[in-house]
Amino acid sequence: MLKTINTYGSPVLRDIALPVTSVTPEIRQLISDMFETMYAAEGIGLAAPQVGESIRLFIIDLHPMDAKEGRRVFINPELLEFSDEKDVYDEGCLSIPTVREDVVRPTAVRIKYQTPDGEDRNEWIDTFLARVIQHEFDHLEGVLFTDRISAIKRSLLKKTLKKIADGEIEVEMSENYQL
Ligand code: NI
Repeated sequence: MLKTINTYGSPVLRDIALPVTSVTPEIRQLISDMFETMYAAEGIGLAAPQVGESIRLFIIDLHPMDAKEGRRVFINPELLEFSDEKDVYDEGCLSIPTVREDVVRPTAVRIKYQTPDGEDRNEWIDTFLARVIQHEFDHLEGVLFTDRISAIKRSLLKKTLKKIADGEIEVEMSENYQL
């Protein structure tokens, strides 16, 4: 079932999400709905708070940009370590339609998380996936990528962000990847 994607200004995007205590049938359904919603919106990553569920879970599928990648589900993720090396990418977000801005982030992270089957994983990730993980992790902390740009750039975006918050800009398909 398609979920509604909450956009900028929606309070749930600013909440700190709560841990997932167990992977119930409802959580499995949510994961399935999130994939359906993400593919329909042509996104590559989606966090539960974006569909109104303030829990620590996000999904990623980088297959459109990397044939070796596929569906990934991260439950109760923790970022344990970051590379010193950083890079820049113009990020977009399904919750902030039409906006893209350069964001600087570490190029690699160590992430600990659980799979839907209850396995604990601990991985050092040094590909583009590391950026998407950091973007989605931010959603669980109530942080949006527009919080990570300069104050000057943010003030230039003020009108656009207000329009999104006022519902004047609809979520639309983009030729660029939305995180
Ligand atoms: Ni996002």
